[in-house]
Amino acid sequence: MDTIQINDKRFKVSITEDRILREVKRVADQINRDYEGQEPVFLAVLNGSFIFASDLLRAISLPCEISFVKLASYQGVSTTGKIRELIGLNVDITGRPVIVVEDIVDTGLTMAHLLETLRAQRPGSLEVCTLLMKPDKLEVALDVKYCCLQIPNDFIVGYGLDYDGKGRNTRDIYTLA
Ligand code: IMP
Ligand code: MG
Repeated sequence: MDTIQINDKRFKVSITEDRILREVKRVADQINRDYEGQEPVFLAVLNGSFIFASDLLRAISLPCEISFVKLASYQGVSTTGKIRELIGLNVDITGRPVIVVEDIVDTGLTMAHLLETLRAQRPGSLEVCTLLMKPDKLEVALDVKYCCLQIPNDFIVGYGLDYDGKGRNTRDIYTLA
């Protein structure tokens, strides 16, 4: 499938499954090296990161935990800037190495807010691991230590990412045609 239709929009393949999995493996290896001797807690941000998190975690060879949190600020194809509350954090992260797992850092507002909320709980360390990043759209100073792929300012779907709730269930990533 080179193109897919979701509601009113047509999308074409831009990043293949092979390429995604190669980059996920590269970043997982980096984390395995950096956290040797530690037991990190991965906090995967729902909904968009669920597929990335499952591939990433299976490439992590460290003893670790994963928990899923939710914090959404996106509707349709543009950021609303509206920040919602963090829900679902049911592990005590105080003093522990925490890695936030996100699908995409766009303006960075969502991540900046999330990091601020998490810092209040005094984790031992706190880093971001994102599948994708749109560096040209970043609006806040954000230190993203682990990033699989940098992409241009286009709207994308697939491999967990959605357009109006749909399109999460593809193996490749698609860009608005
Ligand atoms: P930010 O606050 O602008 O960084 O928005 C981050 C959130 O917006 C991500 O976690 C995604 O859920 C969503 N998002 C940003 N860009 C895209 C995109 O191109 N496709 C689908 N969702 C996106
Ligand atoms: Mg998200």
